Amino acid sequence: MRVLVFDSAELAARRVAGEVLAALREKPDLVLGLATGSTPIGVYAELIRAHRTEGIDFSRVRTFNLDEYLDLPATHEQSYRHFMDRYLFSGINVPPSQIHFPPSEGSDLLERCREYEEDIRRTGGIDIQILGIGSNGHIGFNEPTSSLASRTRVKTLTDKTLRDNSRFYRGGEEPPQLACTMGIGTILEAKKVILQAFGAKKADAVRAAVEGPVSSFCPGSALQLHPDVSFCLDHESASKLSLREYHRRVLENEERLRHRL
Ligand code: F6R
Repeated sequence: MRVLVFDSAELAARRVAGEVLAALREKPDLVLGLATGSTPIGVYAELIRAHRTEGIDFSRVRTFNLDEYLDLPATHEQSYRHFMDRYLFSGINVPPSQIHFPPSEGSDLLERCREYEEDIRRTGGIDIQILGIGSNGHIGFNEPTSSLASRTRVKTLTDKTLRDNSRFYRGGEEPPQLACTMGIGTILEAKKVILQAFGAKKADAVRAAVEGPVSSFCPGSALQLHPDVSFCLDHESASKLSLREYHRRVLENEERLRHRL
């Protein structure tokens, strides 16, 4: 596990976007797993900037979003489809046919969840999975007590997540209670995972994910089982890690050894 602590969310976003762009140079048909929420917006802004100012080409990229609310039409401004169009897809040249979301409307949901997994597999698998983390430790919408082997499916959101999300809903509109999400097992199959977390309200979840026992009660802790995972944090979200100083030295040594590895 790499734990990187940055002086600001902007610096973290620049670093994460840099990793995505480097991977894209190596593999123009990169497969990206994408998160929504406030955390990845800076990365998406950097990718758009790279497309506009450096002409970086996303035309062969395939994307798979982590999750989507059930029965929220794509036109609803709180749908994750709408979010992605606004913060990323409208600013880069990824063709709509290469953009994928888990099923969120209609019937046969279980079968279509299986197809979503199959679609990911057919591309050769997700190269880089971008993640945030909920203040309760969820990744995607894998809420506490989600099976660590779970696959794409429908989940009921916890009260904590509903409360965290209620700020986005106006005039007494209830946030959806159900969402379709990639499972923890799905996420763990990505070749590389980059989780970002910013702000003091994420400090407990980050500590539980990085230093706690691997437990379904903190789904983020399952990432301890992944061979290539980076936690990109700011000082506030890292503030409860007991090995902060150690992580800083690890990175210094990594830098020093770079040309020998
Ligand atoms: C959304 C997702 C969620 C968020 C998490 C943090 O696609 O995967 O797990 O990453 O709820 O949300 P923010 O970034 O808004 O704090």
